[in-house]
Amino acid sequence: MIENLQDTVTLNNGVKIPGFGLGVYKVEDGDVTVASVKAALKHGYRSIDTASFYDNEKGVGQGIRESGVPREEIFVTSKVWNDEQGYESTLQAFEKSLEKLGMDYLDLYLIHWPVKGKFKDTWKAMEELYEKGKVRAIGVSNFHVHHLQDLLADCHVKPVIDQVEYHPHLTQEKLKAFCEEENIQLEAWSPLKKGRLMDEPIISGLADKYNKTSAQVILRWDVQNNVITIPKSTHEHRIQENADIFDFELTDEEMKKISGLNKDERTGKNPDSFDE
Ligand SMILES: NC(=O)c1ccc[n+]([C@@H]2O[C@H](COP(=O)([O-])OP(=O)(O)OC[C@H]3O[C@@H](n4cnc5c(N)ncnc54)[C@H](OP(=O)(O)O)[C@@H]3O)[C@@H](O)[C@H]2O)c1
Repeated sequence: MIENLQDTVTLNNGVKIPGFGLGVYKVEDGDVTVASVKAALKHGYRSIDTASFYDNEKGVGQGIRESGVPREEIFVTSKVWNDEQGYESTLQAFEKSLEKLGMDYLDLYLIHWPVKGKFKDTWKAMEELYEKGKVRAIGVSNFHVHHLQDLLADCHVKPVIDQVEYHPHLTQEKLKAFCEEENIQLEAWSPLKKGRLMDEPIISGLADKYNKTSAQVILRWDVQNNVITIPKSTHEHRIQENADIFDFELTDEEMKKISGLNKDERTGKNPDSFDE
């Protein structure tokens, strides 16, 4: 379990990723993205999660450069979008992402969604990018167990991460167990269920007990579950608040109570019916 904001988790290829990062989905490119990234880095974050689909890679790159924190101390993730999938188009999409970010390598590149009939060709391109040293680690997002099984049967580089929707209303028990067995790290997107869990009585009750906020209780639950978490905020005080979770510990019973809130409820699409 990580013990501070810069603590890392070692992935199955030996690369270390901070266990906590900033997400920037739906953050407007330009000043807002630049300011969010700089605020996060100022408060000790060392991992930023973007994607070509978010259309803010430019701002992410600018924020990182303006932060004064050396590039090699920051873990940068981006993702190949659905309409970019396929072998050649993934290679091109990767170069486009690098160009927008103004970087010469990525730390982690993910397949954003398992596009049927395409994700295996996409993976071949990802393997090539990895083997050429253009990206330090490759992984997937929104893969169910059956997508992972399908990929594992064919690949020669194993994905390091599966980034999926994960929060107290969607605890992904089967996927989590499968990933643990396969040494694929689980990473939580929308860990705060997009801000919709703050009034859940079990969570707000624990927040009162520990003199923390509901967001902090949820993010602490991620950390104690060994799930990497990447909450998004464009407000500096929340960016700071979200990371201030290393001075309290939930008991086993409290962890179970939070997990018991599961309803298998998604805010996003089910990966099996995603067809954009
Ligand atoms: N791979 C994928 O398919 C996928 C899909 C979705 C997301 N993601 C990644 O996961 C990241 C996080 O997910 P998300 O952005 O969807 O949702 P989230 O992090 O669960 O929630 C973000 C929302 O919660 C609010 N918030 C943040 N901190 C708060 C706090 N301390 N108190 C109250 N409200 C707070 C934010 O508002 P303010 O900004 O106004 O503070 C925003 O509205 C994304 O940014 C993205 O990097 C990946």
